[in-house]
Amino acid sequence: MKVFFVSLGCDKNLVDSEVMLGLLKEGGYEITDNEDEADVAVVNTCSFILDAQDESVETILQMAEKKNENLKVLIVTGCLAQRYEAEIKTEIPEVDAVLGTNSYDKIVEAANEALEGNFYDECSPLKGIPEVNTERIISTPSHYAFLKIAEGCNKKCTYCIIPSLRGSYRSVPMEKLVSEARTLAEKGVKELILVAQETTVYGIDLYGKKSLPELISRLSEIEQIRWIRILYCYPEEITDELINVIKTNEKVCHYLDLPIQHVNDDVLKSMGRRTTNKELSGLIKKLREEIPDIALRTTLIAGFPGETNEAHEDVLRFINEAEFDRLGCFTYSREDGTKAACFENQIADEVKASRRDDIMELQSEICADINEGLIGNEYEVIIDGYIPEENTYVARSFRDAPDVDGYVFIETDRKSLLSGDMVRVKISGAHEYDLIGELTDESA
Ligand code: F3S
Repeated sequence: MKVFFVSLGCDKNLVDSEVMLGLLKEGGYEITDNEDEADVAVVNTCSFILDAQDESVETILQMAEKKNENLKVLIVTGCLAQRYEAEIKTEIPEVDAVLGTNSYDKIVEAANEALEGNFYDECSPLKGIPEVNTERIISTPSHYAFLKIAEGCNKKCTYCIIPSLRGSYRSVPMEKLVSEARTLAEKGVKELILVAQETTVYGIDLYGKKSLPELISRLSEIEQIRWIRILYCYPEEITDELINVIKTNEKVCHYLDLPIQHVNDDVLKSMGRRTTNKELSGLIKKLREEIPDIALRTTLIAGFPGETNEAHEDVLRFINEAEFDRLGCFTYSREDGTKAACFENQIADEVKASRRDDIMELQSEICADINEGLIGNEYEVIIDGYIPEENTYVARSFRDAPDVDGYVFIETDRKSLLSGDMVRVKISGAHEYDLIGELTDESA
């Protein structure tokens, strides 16, 4: 039996997809990337904001059409399944199995049962983490992998539906993570990207204290791992100990993803965030003083209920001063089941969109200036791919997380580099988000 798999949403969901792929392979299924020859299709969905839900539903419906052709079984898993289990069952009759976010370990049973003609439905309580000992199948290029260090979230941001889809914060035991990282390293992974809804409080539930610095130290002992990158750090949870590890451990990228969401104190309070404008600017200043070459990424929400023109201006002023190296901005999405959905002073869609555009326009100017200033610098980069018709390698420096940040393009006649090779380049040109580099003498 052949399985076609679609993974939507974030990198945490991607890790669940990879675990399910591993289980399906072990369970005797063959993985195919051709949906027309699949017997079973799995759609691992996202339900974060309206656009993500639309994409999930559209993908399910596309797959449902295949049931008129070759497809025997359609399975829906992940966050949309957790949130709208009943609706999926009643409104999309082509679906044969529904698995919630904490039931991905049941994927083989679900496929087997559904092939037998039995509807399978499992949305386990959002407690604990499913015990899976099968190796996951990495779907990223073989030189980097996401390591999900925890599940769920205890913060109560008023706009966010994720805690009700993923449950409260549960760390993965350190031993298990170190062993998983070793296996990944043996398979060629050089860059480990630590993810969770929030990485900064890792270990608090298991060890009674924030243990991310210790985890990083343990992971960095794995010889083949060259880079460790930390995503999703809550500003208020960043400790001096963590800053020190980033600063002193040579395997840790000088890179931090710091989703601040807003900067105006009234909006931050109404969002249920636990930082103030002053604390945020103090933290950014401190990070830049301690680690002068650190690349900072952030995420913002435009048009949160009650956001005034002045509050929006505060955002523009702040990003102008903070000069984030990377920045993403969503328009606020009114999600059923969240506190903010009931707030009265909702903002019109056109206003939200125009505020987001203001932010992104300003940020593109900031990025262009920052990149211009990097010309002449030398960096170690990791090769992600090659564009033969342009004689150009596509690479990333410590400043670039895969998929969300920029690239360093290296034009060269040298043909011998492979994905995952690490070389040194001198930056010779800059675009808004990407850089151009030349191999240095030692790498040429
Ligand atoms: Fe989407 Fe679920 Fe991730 S809602 S963003 S796939 S945790």
